Amino acid sequence: MLFRTPQIKIFILFLFSKITNLNNKKVLLLRKSLKKLSGYCMKEVDDVKFYDVADICEMIHKYLNEEEITNYFEEGKIKGKKIDNKWHADKEAIDSFLEELAKEKVFFIDTQKIDLTNIKLEGRILDIGGGGEGVIAQFKDEQVVAIDPNKKELEDAPHSGALNIIMDAKELKFLDNTFDTATAFFTMMYIPVIDHKKVFQEIHRVLKLNGEFVLWDVNIPDRNSKEKDLFGLNLEIKISDKTINRGFATLWDKEQDMQYFSNLAKSIGFKILEQKVENEIFYLRYRKK
Ligand SMILES: C[S@@+](CC[C@H](N)C(=O)[O-])C[C@H]1O[C@@H](n2cnc3c(N)ncnc32)[C@H](O)[C@@H]1O
Repeated sequence: MLFRTPQIKIFILFLFSKITNLNNKKVLLLRKSLKKLSGYCMKEVDDVKFYDVADICEMIHKYLNEEEITNYFEEGKIKGKKIDNKWHADKEAIDSFLEELAKEKVFFIDTQKIDLTNIKLEGRILDIGGGGEGVIAQFKDEQVVAIDPNKKELEDAPHSGALNIIMDAKELKFLDNTFDTATAFFTMMYIPVIDHKKVFQEIHRVLKLNGEFVLWDVNIPDRNSKEKDLFGLNLEIKISDKTINRGFATLWDKEQDMQYFSNLAKSIGFKILEQKVENEIFYLRYRKK
């Protein structure tokens, strides 16, 4: 099988592509993962499916435009062939191109370990950006209402008892004072900085008085690389008796650290109950006063 056993999926802001870590090789996959490529307008030659430039562009959510992809074909970086005078590539060629692209474009920090086992999340939980691996839903099942603007991310999340709703955290469709707890598990790194304040205000609004907002995220330093325009990390997440290996990457267009989120929360009226930095990741627990 082409991808053996993918262990780690990495979400990329806007691209919503996936990167899979295989034997420590960073492989950029597609959000509509290659096993689901049948939806594209590909051509079939001798039982092999070939995808054109427009298909590839869609697959990577326009991270590269059609001209850039064509150039990669011309330079031989995508091993393709012309069918009806248009560049096409098969699954294997796209996969290995994306693998190379990930190596070229994503700056990875070391794998970070996180143990959720003893983390207290009480009552009805609103999980912000709860698509993808849906870690909080895997941990707290029926307690969770997971929202994510990206339908596919919710559909792809492992089955759990959570209620999944397509919704943007900038505009929560809940009444005030609805939730006991809100969580953002490596979600803020994907939300443009310009929207952070609005998202925090919305979370504050829908939390009950004394409700808690628990956030996990990563230190993102100043971008120090011209070549790497994505910042990524692999996570080893322990929840009671299981371990989830997961990777995330985001456009490297921002800097963030725990202090930044503490200040933001305080400015909105949250009280900080707990804050902890461990290696490159941090954990914050706030209370709505
Ligand atoms: C890397 S995932 C976070 C991981 C996820 N919490 C998990 O457990 O796997 C980031 C998620 O944030 C979502 N997201 C991006 N912008 C958002 C927004 N404005 N409101 C809510 N979710 C958002 C993305 O669609 C994506 O599914």
